[in-house]
Amino acid sequence: MINQNVYDELLQKYQAHYGKTPEVVSYAPGRIEVLGNHTDYNEGYVFSAAINYGTFFAISRNDKGVNRIVAGDLMHEVTFPLTGATAVTEDTWANYVIGTVAGLNAVKAQDTGFDAMFLGNVPMGFGLSSSAALEMCTAKAVCKLYDITADNVTLAKIGQAAERDYAGCPCGLLDQISSLCGVEGMLVKTDFRTLDIETVDMGPSVCFLMCNPHAKHALVDGQYATRRQACEDAAAYFAKVLPHPVAALRDVSMAEWTANKDGLDPIVANRAAHPIGEDERVLEGAKLLEKGDLKAFGQLLFASHESSRTMFENSCEELDNVVAVTKTVPGVLGARLSGGGFGGSAVVLVKTEQADTAAQAIAAAYEAKTGKTCEVSKIQPSLGATIVFPA
Ligand code: GLA
Repeated sequence: MINQNVYDELLQKYQAHYGKTPEVVSYAPGRIEVLGNHTDYNEGYVFSAAINYGTFFAISRNDKGVNRIVAGDLMHEVTFPLTGATAVTEDTWANYVIGTVAGLNAVKAQDTGFDAMFLGNVPMGFGLSSSAALEMCTAKAVCKLYDITADNVTLAKIGQAAERDYAGCPCGLLDQISSLCGVEGMLVKTDFRTLDIETVDMGPSVCFLMCNPHAKHALVDGQYATRRQACEDAAAYFAKVLPHPVAALRDVSMAEWTANKDGLDPIVANRAAHPIGEDERVLEGAKLLEKGDLKAFGQLLFASHESSRTMFENSCEELDNVVAVTKTVPGVLGARLSGGGFGGSAVVLVKTEQADTAAQAIAAAYEAKTGKTCEVSKIQPSLGATIVFPA
């Protein structure tokens, strides 16, 4: 089983804390975003992958009339009511669980409380969606325990609502869909309008590195929300000036942007160019992967980062430096920031046989350039969320 040592530790801690074994254990991974940045809430396209780091969630019923949740790394317990639970201001990690359970209760109400604990190894601060992993392992476990039937899109929307209403981030559906729909060795290509999901095999010749230069940025959520607002304002403008319906920036081509951008505030115009360009890059990338042209696919990652840096302005000096140094490292095919931006990590597409040497070379070149460290981890596209016990 993937991450067996984390699973074993969780079972030991669960037994020690609750004095019983769990009835159900689920697992959900983090994700990398490979191409298609800030396109999900613009109803566009994304290539992503579930990763080989994730979170386990152990649960059983109790007769206490409340839900108890323990963060297994902190061994700290939070209790919350079966109905009407609101966001907490301390132990805010619990909000991802509370929000997800509230969403599931709207599908089918719990008839008893539960005793739960989670433990994971998604590196924190890498921008690998540890929060979506927590929401989706919560969702899988609660559905199994209370016999709730809900498809992946419903679960993803419940996680998204937990982020928005309990954790305060108006994110799209990318992180949850990637965590749920990952397949070993595969990229996940999602159309965020139709929610059609395909898996795409890149073959064994390439893999990914995540590079975390430990960029500290304040107001991340505020910045995400203002970018989203700019995209929505731009879509409303294009709906007025274009001769066809525009429900979201997905409906606008780069040629239409170029011909009509002068009617927009220049900053809003630049913001809109990013998801519009990203959609075109994902569609182009799909054709390149079909042909097996990984070199050209990698170039699209560099182009994506450049668009983040100059148009969407959701990069930062540290991420720009990481991407710049990767261009000097043998075996690297492409690199870009992954996820919301304003910090977090860069994802690097690298030839598998050179992945280890490239990882060392990136860390060394980053240190030589900046005098600071950059943590580099190897990432494998992996299995999505699942029930691991009972088998
Ligand atoms: C974060 C959000 C996602 C998505 C990405 C950017 O990860 O949670 O919904 O918008 O940023 O592509």
